[in-house]
This record gives sequence, structure tokens and C-alpha cells, in this order.
Amino acid sequence: MLFLWYINTHKIVRIRLRLQLMACTTLLLGALALVPALTVAQNCQCGYKDSNGNVWREAIISTFTQPEGALSAVQANWMISSYNNPQTAPATASIQYLSANVMQYNDALGLKASAYDNNGFVQSAEIATQRSDILYGTFRIRAQVPSVPGAVFGFFTYFSNSQEQDIEFLSAEPNYYQRVHYTNHPGQDPGATLDVTIPGADFTTFGNHRIDWLPSRTTYLYDGSGLTSTKQLTVNVPTTPSRLILNVWSNGDPGWSQGPPTSDAIATVQWVHLYFNSTSLSEAAFNSACTSAGRPASCSV
Ligand SMILES: *[C@@H]1O[C@H](CO)[C@@H](O)[C@H](O)[C@H]1NC(C)=O
Repeated sequence: MLFLWYINTHKIVRIRLRLQLMACTTLLLGALALVPALTVAQNCQCGYKDSNGNVWREAIISTFTQPEGALSAVQANWMISSYNNPQTAPATASIQYLSANVMQYNDALGLKASAYDNNGFVQSAEIATQRSDILYGTFRIRAQVPSVPGAVFGFFTYFSNSQEQDIEFLSAEPNYYQRVHYTNHPGQDPGATLDVTIPGADFTTFGNHRIDWLPSRTTYLYDGSGLTSTKQLTVNVPTTPSRLILNVWSNGDPGWSQGPPTSDAIATVQWVHLYFNSTSLSEAAFNSACTSAGRPASCSV
């Protein structure tokens, strides 16, 4: 009895000590302004509230600038594509997704469409979330577009060719550094695509690009170069659980990618932040996790 009592007291003391230590550490880290990152990791059991007041239950935070390297952030949540995607005319080449084209680059993640060597395949890069259960959310990327002409840089949700919402940059366009294409597929449908020029923007500098997916609409946003842009599509809003995909590719199609590039076309990505609901974590399971955590406020994102 006595022995047990001793152990228990000892344990309590140790727990108290640890709590005090944690408090000290938190204060120290607070002084270093690292608390927001910790908060996101530890105290968001009641989800994430975005700038429009929408609450999202889950998050995938990929920080490609982390000291462990871009590829270890890729491995944590993404699959690297490795397959051939055969193309027909008017394309002049097929697409070969290669894992070597997803790389550590300039202290971030590089996605590369390689200089074309005329062998019939343009070596290209693609990553897709391991999770395919993402249904609605706010999806953000901080990136620089490629500036070598002839490649497409895409950030999009994908289930099928008719359940897909896309941000695409075409480096062959004369004003590629401020022109972006927003599409809810099928893109031929009236009102399903927006070809947007943002005067004053320079997408070759790091900027934030964002897709907000709600049941009633897709909102496409840009925040960079000291300005913001917001556009909406209400046609062809997907309703199916999806993956998030990033890619850089070319097939020589004179009507879209153009090219293929004659030198390496590389997009540089510093981070991807996905806040979302999924078909795997129900509202009820989310609510009970939030209650067990003591109902902390949702994290602002
Ligand atoms: C996402 O989940 C939150 C929390 O369960 C819920 O309030 C919200 O309505 C959901 N959003 C959508 C678009 O389903």
C-alpha cells in the first residue's frame, strides 16, 4: 500500500513537473513566435475556421521548406506519379510522369517538365494526395510558376474528368506571369472556365493561390505581388470525394500547353495547406473528438 502510494505521489509530482516544464517551453517558444505552428499541430481538435467563417475538420500541412527536406514532406502525405500518359493529336508528344522530376529545388519542392529530347515523351512531374476522400475545403499553395515556355503548371482537385476543379498556368502565354485559368470540368460547358489576367501580378515571385470548394460554388483566389483577386464558378462544382494534385507537364498541344519546352520548366512550391472535410471523419466523430479535447476554439486559417 505504502509503496503504491509512494509511486502514485511520485508520478503526480513528475506529471506536475512535466506540465511546468511544458509551460516554460511554451513560453520560450512563444517568445520565438513558434506557438502558431505548435497550436496547429496540437490544439485544433475543433477544426479550422477559414477567412469566410467555414469550419473544416481536418488538415494536411506540407512544408516543403522544412529542414528535413521537401521530399520527406512529400512522402508524408503524397504519392509521386510514375506512369506514362499517352496523348493523341493535336498533342505532339506523350507525357511520362517520372519520380526524378519531383525534387528538392532551391530550398523548396521543384516540379519539372524536362527539356524535350524528341523521344516521344515529355518527362513530367506530378504528386497526388494519398487521401482520395477529400470533400469540400480550402486548398492553398505558395508557389512560383515556371518561366520556360511550353509547360502547364496545375493545382487541382480530381476524381474524374467531369469531377475536377483546376488552377492552371501556361508558361507559353506571353503574359504567363499574370494569367491564370480556372476551370470546373467539363471545361467546354458554358460558364465552366475563367481565363483571368491579373494586372500587376507577377506569378514568377512566390504568391498564394487558392481553391475554396463549397457545395454551391468554387472560389479561386490569388494573394501575392501586393494584391488579391477573387473569382467564382458555380457551374460543374464537383460533388465527389477527391484527391488534390499538383503537376507540371507538356504534350506539345498547340492549343494548350504548346511546347514541349526546350529547356527545363520548373515550378517551385514552398508549401501546400489543405483544410477540408472528408468522408472518413464524420461530423459526429469530429464533434466528439472536439468535446473530449475540452472544446478549444477552432484554429483560424
Ligand atoms: C465541414 O465540417 C464542419 C464541421 O463538422 C461542418 O460544420 C461544415 O458544414 C462542413 N462543411 C461542408 C461544406 O460540408
